[in-house]
Amino acid sequence: MQSDKKKETEHKMAMMEEDIAITKNMAKIKHKIAVMSGKGGVGKSTVSVNLVAAFNQKGYHTGILDADLHGPNVPLMLGVKGRQLDADEQGILPVVTEDNIKVMSLAFLLPSKDSPVIWRGPKKTGAIRQFLGYVAWDELDLLIVDNPPGTGDEPLTVLQSIPFLDGIVIVTTPSPVALEDVEKCVAMAKSLNIPVIGIIENMAGFICPKCGEESFIFGSGGGQRIAVKMDVPFLGQLPIDLSKVPDSDEDMHIITKNNDSLFSQRIMEMVDKIEEYIKK
Ligand SMILES: Nc1ncnc2c1ncn2[C@@H]1O[C@H](COP(=O)(O)OP(=O)(O)OP(=O)(O)O)[C@@H](O)[C@H]1O
Ligand SMILES: [Mg+2]
Repeated sequence: MQSDKKKETEHKMAMMEEDIAITKNMAKIKHKIAVMSGKGGVGKSTVSVNLVAAFNQKGYHTGILDADLHGPNVPLMLGVKGRQLDADEQGILPVVTEDNIKVMSLAFLLPSKDSPVIWRGPKKTGAIRQFLGYVAWDELDLLIVDNPPGTGDEPLTVLQSIPFLDGIVIVTTPSPVALEDVEKCVAMAKSLNIPVIGIIENMAGFICPKCGEESFIFGSGGGQRIAVKMDVPFLGQLPIDLSKVPDSDEDMHIITKNNDSLFSQRIMEMVDKIEEYIKK
């Protein structure tokens, strides 16, 4: 009985210490944005890496935290897959891309690319809190957090643990099934008093490279409709862009590598809207 109480007190003290570390570490980062979606595979990671690259191109000092512990794709998408982590007296050092984007992902800590992460809630919460509190992000203008789909442990930890989170960006496709789950993300954010910066409709339309005709494979306009219904801003549509479908590990193009595409133009327009929001 006595030892249970002692354990409980020790646990509470450890959590408080961690809270202090997170508050201190996050205070050095001017803006923090979480990317979420109701459904999986709608393009959160694609949007996250392109947003961070676009802000970086605008002169922001940027970082990205891959909070998807079971399917950490950010290192692959930013061309830093397989890199090793270093540490110094400041803490764990994030991996830095060629363009100077700081990246942290559980993928850097796994023994091999095929190693599964079989963790329950508390362990996942613990890992994300460590990334927030003990990674030496240092002074940054913007940190983007890429979440796994849904409203489970990882996004909940991100939304509850980051002090002064600027808000969330929700990614959806125009499919009715994905749209239905957007409402859950909005409701979650509202219940935690986190602002919704806006909704992005991804995979909205495909321009055939042969005939130039545009087809709306998954429909179109649903993102805007749901934004109006839920009374949150709409940030725009992103087309299906074949350069965003990688043929191999090295082929993942982010915006900085193909600035003329419609996808890149739309990302830049979204970045302008997000910038206007966070500067308010
Ligand atoms: N606009 C787009 N055009 C073409 N391909 C895209 C586009 N957006 C995403 N993709 C591709 O769709 C797949 C899923 O995208 P992504 O991994 O970004 O989704 P996600 O929402 O992060 O998935 P998860 O829920 O598993 O984390 C990837 O292969 C990605 O390259
Ligand atoms: Mg993802």
